[in-house]
Amino acid sequence: MKLKIIASIGFILFVLIVSCQSDEQLEFKRYYSAGSLVYQTHCQNCHGANGEGLQALMPPLTDSVFLKANKARLACFVKNGLKEKIDISKRPFDGQMPPNDLPHIEIANVLTYITNSFGNKMGTINTDEVDADLGKCEGVGKSESPEVRK
Ligand code: HEC
Repeated sequence: MKLKIIASIGFILFVLIVSCQSDEQLEFKRYYSAGSLVYQTHCQNCHGANGEGLQALMPPLTDSVFLKANKARLACFVKNGLKEKIDISKRPFDGQMPPNDLPHIEIANVLTYITNSFGNKMGTINTDEVDADLGKCEGVGKSESPEVRK
């Protein structure tokens, strides 16, 4: 009997806590968990399970300063690929990332995932942001693209 009461109180507390989460937190969780799958399927081979990269070939996804400075261009990097001289965590990279024309929702999912994993913490990047950013991709990923912001 006592156990049942404790269990019911526990359950009520659980429901209260879950329902107290804001819409924003729920949206974040949806994007993040879907993004983890997109990452495993489309990015992990090169960037590593922990975003650690691969020696001088694949840059790690752990440079929060770079990711923040280039936040509005990340969707373009994924969609059109990237071929620029970049400095990631003070190491130079001059490779080529192939284009990956994923649906906008999957780009938003995976960007939310990488920018909130591996020590990064940038909040949700939703589809509206991806739509807007992709509208301004001019030149990104092509050789005439402007210097990557440092
Ligand atoms: C075939 C290997 C490959 C795949 C697959 C790949 N990348 Fe990359 N990525 C690279 C390389 C190489 C660079 C560096 C390009 C350069 O030097 O211009 C890069 C650069 C980046 C950068 C900017 C630099 C940094 O380290 O922060 C981001 C962000 C990124 N990739 C995210 C992704 C995401 C998200 C996916 C999956 C949707 C992905 N990449 C899939 C190889 C890959």
